[in-house]
Amino acid sequence: MKIFVTGCCGYIGSHTCTLLLEKGYEVVGLDNFSNSKRSVLNKIKKITNKDIIFYEGNMLNKELLDEIFTKNNIDCVIDFAAFKSVGDSVLKPIQYYTNNVNSVLTLLTSMQEHNVKKLIFSSSATVYGNPEFVPITENCEVGNTTNPYGTSKLFTEKILKDLSLADPEFKIIIFRYFNPVGAHKSSLIGEDPLGIPANLMPYICKVANKELDYLNVFGNDYNTKDGTGVRDYIHIMDLADAHIKGIEKLGNSQNGLYIYNLGTGKGYSVLEMINTFEKVNNIKIPYKIAPRRSGDIDECYADSKKANKELNWTCQYNLEDMCKDAYNFIIKNK
Ligand code: UFG
Repeated sequence: MKIFVTGCCGYIGSHTCTLLLEKGYEVVGLDNFSNSKRSVLNKIKKITNKDIIFYEGNMLNKELLDEIFTKNNIDCVIDFAAFKSVGDSVLKPIQYYTNNVNSVLTLLTSMQEHNVKKLIFSSSATVYGNPEFVPITENCEVGNTTNPYGTSKLFTEKILKDLSLADPEFKIIIFRYFNPVGAHKSSLIGEDPLGIPANLMPYICKVANKELDYLNVFGNDYNTKDGTGVRDYIHIMDLADAHIKGIEKLGNSQNGLYIYNLGTGKGYSVLEMINTFEKVNNIKIPYKIAPRRSGDIDECYADSKKANKELNWTCQYNLEDMCKDAYNFIIKNK
Protein backbone atom coordinates (compact mmCIF):
# COMPACT_ATOMS: atom_id res chain seq x y z
CA MET A 1 0.00 0.00 0.00
CA LYS A 2 1.39 3.42 -0.99
CA ILE A 3 1.08 6.31 1.43
CA PHE A 4 1.78 9.91 0.40
CA VAL A 5 3.29 11.84 3.32
CA THR A 6 3.54 15.62 3.04
CA GLY A 7 6.11 17.22 5.33
CA CYS A 8 7.90 13.85 5.45
CA CYS A 9 11.16 15.28 6.83
CA GLY A 10 9.60 17.30 9.66
CA TYR A 11 9.42 16.22 13.28
CA ILE A 12 6.20 14.21 13.22
CA GLY A 13 6.50 13.31 9.53
CA SER A 14 9.94 11.73 9.82
CA HIS A 15 9.05 9.57 12.82
CA THR A 16 5.85 8.41 11.14
CA CYS A 17 7.77 7.54 7.96
CA THR A 18 10.07 5.20 9.88
CA LEU A 19 7.10 3.28 11.28
CA LEU A 20 5.32 3.18 7.91
CA LEU A 21 8.40 1.73 6.22
CA GLU A 22 8.95 -0.76 9.04
CA LYS A 23 5.34 -1.90 8.74
CA GLY A 24 5.81 -2.57 5.02
CA TYR A 25 4.04 0.46 3.56
CA GLU A 26 5.58 2.19 0.56
CA VAL A 27 6.10 5.87 1.24
CA VAL A 28 5.99 8.73 -1.24
CA GLY A 29 7.23 11.85 0.54
CA LEU A 30 7.09 15.57 -0.14
CA ASP A 31 9.03 18.30 1.68
CA ASN A 32 10.36 21.73 0.82
CA PHE A 33 12.80 21.84 3.78
CA SER A 34 11.31 25.10 5.03
CA ASN A 35 11.66 23.79 8.58
CA SER A 36 13.50 20.51 8.13
CA LYS A 37 16.78 19.12 6.86
CA ARG A 38 17.53 17.05 3.79
CA SER A 39 19.80 14.82 5.90
CA VAL A 40 16.65 13.40 7.56
CA LEU A 41 16.09 11.34 4.39
CA ASN A 42 19.37 9.47 4.92
CA LYS A 43 18.57 8.98 8.57
CA ILE A 44 15.21 7.43 7.77
CA LYS A 45 17.05 5.13 5.37
CA LYS A 46 19.62 4.26 8.04
CA ILE A 47 16.89 3.35 10.53
CA THR A 48 14.71 1.33 8.17
CA ASN A 49 17.07 0.27 5.39
CA LYS A 50 14.37 1.42 3.00
CA ASP A 51 13.96 4.39 0.68
CA ILE A 52 11.19 6.93 0.40
CA ILE A 53 10.12 7.95 -3.09
CA PHE A 54 10.97 11.58 -2.45
CA TYR A 55 9.78 14.78 -4.14
CA GLU A 56 11.19 18.17 -3.16
CA GLY A 57 8.69 20.98 -3.40
CA ASN A 58 5.79 22.93 -2.05
CA MET A 59 2.25 21.71 -1.53
CA LEU A 60 0.96 24.87 -3.19
CA ASN A 61 2.46 23.54 -6.43
CA LYS A 62 -0.57 21.85 -8.02
CA GLU A 63 1.42 20.58 -11.05
CA LEU A 64 3.80 18.79 -8.71
CA LEU A 65 0.94 17.24 -6.74
CA ASP A 66 -0.71 16.13 -9.99
CA GLU A 67 2.55 14.55 -11.08
CA ILE A 68 2.87 12.70 -7.76
CA PHE A 69 -0.67 11.32 -7.98
CA THR A 70 -0.26 10.41 -11.66
CA LYS A 71 3.04 8.60 -11.24
CA ASN A 72 2.23 6.83 -7.98
CA ASN A 73 -0.72 4.70 -7.15
CA ILE A 74 -1.48 6.45 -3.85
CA ASP A 75 -3.95 4.83 -1.41
CA CYS A 76 -3.92 7.35 1.37
CA VAL A 77 -2.46 10.78 2.17
CA ILE A 78 -1.06 11.89 5.51
CA ASP A 79 -0.79 15.67 5.55
CA PHE A 80 1.81 16.97 8.00
CA ALA A 81 3.12 19.87 5.94
CA ALA A 82 2.41 23.14 7.75
CA PHE A 83 4.00 26.06 9.55
CA LYS A 84 3.64 25.57 13.29
CA SER A 85 5.10 28.44 15.27
CA VAL A 86 2.42 30.21 17.29
CA GLY A 87 4.50 33.40 17.75
CA ASP A 88 5.54 33.57 14.11
CA SER A 89 1.95 33.16 12.97
CA VAL A 90 0.94 36.36 14.80
CA LEU A 91 3.61 38.27 12.86
CA LYS A 92 2.96 36.58 9.49
CA PRO A 93 -0.74 35.74 9.21
CA ILE A 94 -0.81 35.85 5.40
CA GLN A 95 2.03 33.37 5.12
CA TYR A 96 0.40 31.11 7.71
CA TYR A 97 -3.04 31.07 6.07
CA THR A 98 -1.50 30.61 2.63
CA ASN A 99 0.80 27.82 3.70
CA ASN A 100 -1.58 26.03 6.05
CA VAL A 101 -4.99 26.52 4.40
CA ASN A 102 -4.42 27.21 0.69
CA SER A 103 -2.01 24.32 0.47
CA VAL A 104 -4.62 21.91 1.85
CA LEU A 105 -7.12 23.21 -0.71
CA THR A 106 -4.56 22.54 -3.43
CA LEU A 107 -3.95 19.06 -2.06
CA LEU A 108 -7.67 18.27 -1.82
CA THR A 109 -8.28 19.49 -5.37
CA SER A 110 -5.56 17.25 -6.71
CA MET A 111 -6.73 14.30 -4.57
CA GLN A 112 -10.27 14.67 -5.85
CA GLU A 113 -9.13 14.91 -9.49
CA HIS A 114 -7.07 11.74 -9.10
CA ASN A 115 -9.73 9.95 -7.13
CA VAL A 116 -7.58 9.55 -4.00
CA LYS A 117 -10.02 9.95 -1.16
CA LYS A 118 -8.39 8.82 2.05
CA LEU A 119 -6.75 11.50 4.17
CA ILE A 120 -5.26 11.82 7.63
CA PHE A 121 -4.92 15.48 8.60
CA SER A 122 -2.69 16.88 11.37
CA SER A 123 -4.64 19.23 13.55
CA SER A 124 -3.93 20.39 17.05
CA ALA A 125 -5.43 20.72 20.50
CA THR A 126 -5.04 24.41 19.89
CA VAL A 127 -8.46 24.34 18.13
CA TYR A 128 -10.09 24.03 21.57
CA GLY A 129 -8.78 27.49 22.52
CA ASN A 130 -9.21 27.81 26.27
CA PRO A 131 -11.08 24.52 26.74
CA GLU A 132 -14.52 24.36 28.29
CA PHE A 133 -13.37 21.44 30.47
CA VAL A 134 -10.49 19.02 31.05
CA PRO A 135 -9.78 16.31 30.20
CA ILE A 136 -10.80 17.51 26.73
CA THR A 137 -13.05 15.20 24.71
CA GLU A 138 -13.67 15.59 20.99
CA ASN A 139 -17.10 17.01 21.87
CA CYS A 140 -15.57 19.96 23.66
CA GLU A 141 -16.39 23.13 21.75
CA VAL A 142 -13.78 24.35 19.26
CA GLY A 143 -13.10 27.97 18.38
CA ASN A 144 -11.75 31.03 20.15
CA THR A 145 -8.29 30.25 18.87
CA THR A 146 -5.80 32.85 19.98
CA ASN A 147 -3.42 33.02 17.01
CA PRO A 148 -3.39 32.55 13.21
CA TYR A 149 -1.69 29.17 13.52
CA GLY A 150 -4.55 27.82 15.62
CA THR A 151 -7.13 29.49 13.41
CA SER A 152 -5.53 27.97 10.30
CA LYS A 153 -6.11 24.51 11.81
CA LEU A 154 -9.66 25.43 12.78
CA PHE A 155 -10.46 26.69 9.23
CA THR A 156 -8.97 23.58 7.68
CA GLU A 157 -11.01 21.32 9.93
CA LYS A 158 -14.12 23.17 8.77
CA ILE A 159 -13.13 22.76 5.12
CA LEU A 160 -12.65 19.02 5.65
CA LYS A 161 -16.05 18.72 7.35
CA ASP A 162 -17.74 20.52 4.43
CA LEU A 163 -15.89 18.34 1.91
CA SER A 164 -16.90 15.11 3.60
CA LEU A 165 -20.54 16.23 3.35
CA ALA A 166 -20.23 17.31 -0.28
CA ASP A 167 -18.24 14.30 -1.47
CA PRO A 168 -19.26 11.26 0.58
CA GLU A 169 -16.56 9.12 -1.05
CA PHE A 170 -13.98 10.85 1.15
CA LYS A 171 -12.74 9.14 4.30
CA ILE A 172 -10.96 11.61 6.52
CA ILE A 173 -9.35 11.41 9.93
CA ILE A 174 -8.54 14.60 11.80
CA PHE A 175 -5.99 14.04 14.56
CA ARG A 176 -5.82 16.70 17.23
CA TYR A 177 -2.31 16.43 18.66
CA PHE A 178 -1.51 17.50 22.17
CA ASN A 179 2.19 18.15 22.95
CA PRO A 180 4.50 15.77 21.05
CA VAL A 181 7.97 15.37 22.57
CA GLY A 182 10.82 12.83 22.60
CA ALA A 183 12.67 11.20 19.74
CA HIS A 184 13.26 7.95 17.90
CA LYS A 185 15.19 5.36 19.99
CA SER A 186 18.08 5.48 17.50
CA SER A 187 18.61 9.19 18.33
CA LEU A 188 19.09 9.72 14.60
CA ILE A 189 15.93 11.78 14.26
CA GLY A 190 14.21 14.01 16.79
CA GLU A 191 12.98 17.53 17.32
CA ASP A 192 15.44 19.94 15.79
CA PRO A 193 13.99 23.46 15.72
CA LEU A 194 15.94 26.26 14.08
CA GLY A 195 17.00 29.12 16.40
CA ILE A 196 15.80 29.57 19.98
CA PRO A 197 13.05 27.05 20.68
CA ALA A 198 9.57 28.30 21.54
CA ASN A 199 8.38 25.03 23.09
CA LEU A 200 9.21 23.68 26.51
CA MET A 201 10.99 20.37 25.83
CA PRO A 202 13.39 21.63 23.14
CA TYR A 203 14.17 24.62 25.37
CA ILE A 204 14.93 22.35 28.35
CA CYS A 205 17.19 20.28 26.08
CA LYS A 206 19.16 23.36 25.03
CA VAL A 207 19.61 24.36 28.68
CA ALA A 208 20.73 20.82 29.49
CA ASN A 209 23.18 21.02 26.61
CA LYS A 210 24.47 24.38 27.95
CA GLU A 211 23.47 26.21 24.77
CA LEU A 212 21.12 28.36 26.88
CA ASP A 213 21.79 29.43 30.48
CA TYR A 214 18.42 28.79 32.07
CA LEU A 215 14.78 28.11 31.39
CA ASN A 216 12.15 30.80 31.83
CA VAL A 217 9.12 29.25 33.50
CA PHE A 218 6.27 31.33 32.12
CA GLY A 219 4.15 32.05 35.18
CA ASN A 220 3.65 30.24 38.49
CA ASP A 221 0.24 31.67 39.33
CA TYR A 222 -1.94 29.51 37.09
CA ASN A 223 -4.87 27.64 38.52
CA THR A 224 -2.99 24.30 38.53
CA LYS A 225 -1.41 21.88 41.02
CA ASP A 226 1.78 23.94 41.46
CA GLY A 227 0.88 27.18 39.65
CA THR A 228 2.73 26.34 36.41
CA GLY A 229 1.03 25.42 33.13
CA VAL A 230 -0.20 21.85 32.71
CA ARG A 231 -0.01 20.07 29.32
CA ASP A 232 -0.43 16.59 27.90
CA TYR A 233 2.99 15.50 26.60
CA ILE A 234 2.95 12.52 24.26
CA HIS A 235 5.94 10.53 22.97
CA ILE A 236 6.50 11.12 19.28
CA MET A 237 6.58 7.38 18.54
CA ASP A 238 3.18 6.91 20.17
CA LEU A 239 1.91 9.71 17.98
CA ALA A 240 3.49 8.12 14.89
CA ASP A 241 1.88 4.80 15.80
CA ALA A 242 -1.55 6.42 15.89
CA HIS A 243 -1.13 7.20 12.16
CA ILE A 244 -0.55 3.52 11.39
CA LYS A 245 -3.72 2.73 13.31
CA GLY A 246 -5.44 5.57 11.44
CA ILE A 247 -4.59 4.02 8.07
CA GLU A 248 -5.98 0.69 9.27
CA LYS A 249 -9.13 2.47 10.45
CA LEU A 250 -9.59 4.15 7.06
CA GLY A 251 -9.28 0.75 5.43
CA ASN A 252 -12.11 -0.82 7.36
CA SER A 253 -14.59 1.89 8.25
CA GLN A 254 -17.41 3.68 6.51
CA ASN A 255 -16.79 6.82 4.52
CA GLY A 256 -17.02 10.05 6.45
CA LEU A 257 -15.01 12.13 8.85
CA TYR A 258 -13.54 10.98 12.13
CA ILE A 259 -11.95 13.18 14.77
CA TYR A 260 -9.57 11.94 17.48
CA ASN A 261 -7.60 13.53 20.27
CA LEU A 262 -4.09 12.16 20.56
CA GLY A 263 -2.65 12.58 24.03
CA THR A 264 -1.81 10.38 26.99
CA GLY A 265 -4.66 11.72 29.10
CA LYS A 266 -2.20 12.86 31.77
CA GLY A 267 -1.37 16.47 32.51
CA TYR A 268 2.10 17.46 33.74
CA SER A 269 3.14 20.89 34.98
CA VAL A 270 6.27 22.73 33.84
CA LEU A 271 7.91 22.04 37.22
CA GLU A 272 7.08 18.33 36.95
CA MET A 273 8.68 18.32 33.50
CA ILE A 274 11.86 19.92 34.87
CA ASN A 275 12.00 17.49 37.81
CA THR A 276 11.50 14.41 35.66
CA PHE A 277 14.05 15.59 33.10
CA GLU A 278 16.60 16.23 35.87
CA LYS A 279 15.98 12.87 37.49
CA VAL A 280 16.14 10.61 34.43
CA ASN A 281 19.05 12.41 32.81
CA ASN A 282 20.91 13.15 36.02
CA ILE A 283 21.43 16.80 35.09
CA LYS A 284 20.44 20.13 36.63
CA ILE A 285 18.12 22.46 34.72
CA PRO A 286 18.51 26.00 36.08
CA TYR A 287 15.29 27.97 35.78
CA LYS A 288 13.73 31.31 36.71
CA ILE A 289 10.11 32.17 37.19
CA ALA A 290 9.18 34.66 34.47
CA PRO A 291 5.94 36.50 33.63
CA ARG A 292 3.12 34.59 31.93
CA ARG A 293 3.40 34.16 28.16
CA SER A 294 0.52 35.81 26.37
CA GLY A 295 -2.12 33.37 25.07
CA ASP A 296 -1.15 30.54 27.47
CA ILE A 297 -3.87 28.70 29.40
CA ASP A 298 -3.92 26.89 32.76
CA GLU A 299 -4.46 23.32 31.70
CA CYS A 300 -4.78 21.37 28.47
CA TYR A 301 -4.90 17.57 28.52
CA ALA A 302 -6.77 15.02 26.51
CA ASP A 303 -9.42 12.46 27.00
CA SER A 304 -8.16 10.05 24.32
CA LYS A 305 -10.56 7.20 25.05
CA LYS A 306 -12.20 7.53 21.65
CA ALA A 307 -8.85 6.94 19.89
CA ASN A 308 -7.96 4.14 22.34
CA LYS A 309 -11.19 2.35 21.55
CA GLU A 310 -11.85 3.03 17.88
CA LEU A 311 -8.24 2.88 16.69
CA ASN A 312 -7.14 0.16 19.09
CA TRP A 313 -4.30 2.48 20.05
CA THR A 314 -2.67 3.11 23.41
CA CYS A 315 0.44 4.98 24.46
CA GLN A 316 3.46 2.79 25.22
CA TYR A 317 5.84 5.45 26.52
CA ASN A 318 5.79 7.43 29.76
CA LEU A 319 7.15 10.84 30.71
CA GLU A 320 10.52 9.39 31.73
CA ASP A 321 10.95 7.85 28.25
CA MET A 322 10.02 11.18 26.68
CA CYS A 323 12.64 13.09 28.71
CA LYS A 324 15.32 10.45 28.16
CA ASP A 325 14.80 10.13 24.42
CA ALA A 326 14.59 13.90 23.87
CA TYR A 327 17.91 14.45 25.65
CA ASN A 328 19.65 11.49 24.00
CA PHE A 329 18.83 12.95 20.61
CA ILE A 330 20.41 16.27 21.63
CA ILE A 331 23.61 14.83 23.09
CA LYS A 332 24.15 12.42 20.21
CA ASN A 333 23.72 15.22 17.66
CA LYS A 334 25.88 17.90 19.32
N1 UFG B 1 6.81 27.03 28.82
C1 UFG B 1 7.69 27.63 29.70
N2 UFG B 1 8.88 28.06 29.21
C2 UFG B 1 9.24 27.93 27.90
C3 UFG B 1 8.33 27.31 27.02
C4 UFG B 1 7.13 26.89 27.50
O1 UFG B 1 7.40 27.78 30.90
O2 UFG B 1 10.35 28.36 27.52
C5 UFG B 1 5.53 26.53 29.33
C6 UFG B 1 4.30 27.17 28.70
O3 UFG B 1 3.96 28.35 29.37
C7 UFG B 1 3.27 26.05 28.83
C8 UFG B 1 4.11 24.78 28.71
O4 UFG B 1 5.43 25.16 29.01
O5 UFG B 1 2.68 26.08 30.10
C9 UFG B 1 4.08 24.17 27.32
O6 UFG B 1 4.42 25.14 26.37
P1 UFG B 1 4.78 24.77 24.86
O7 UFG B 1 5.15 26.03 24.16
O8 UFG B 1 5.77 23.66 24.81
O9 UFG B 1 3.42 24.16 24.29
P2 UFG B 1 1.97 24.81 24.18
O10 UFG B 1 1.05 23.91 24.95
O11 UFG B 1 1.96 26.23 24.50
O12 UFG B 1 1.67 24.68 22.63
C10 UFG B 1 1.91 23.47 21.94
C11 UFG B 1 2.29 23.79 20.50
C12 UFG B 1 1.14 24.37 19.76
C13 UFG B 1 -0.04 23.47 19.88
C14 UFG B 1 -0.37 23.18 21.32
C15 UFG B 1 -1.47 22.15 21.39
O13 UFG B 1 3.35 24.71 20.46
O14 UFG B 1 1.47 24.45 18.40
O15 UFG B 1 0.78 22.66 21.98
O16 UFG B 1 -1.86 21.89 22.66
F1 UFG B 1 -1.09 24.04 19.30
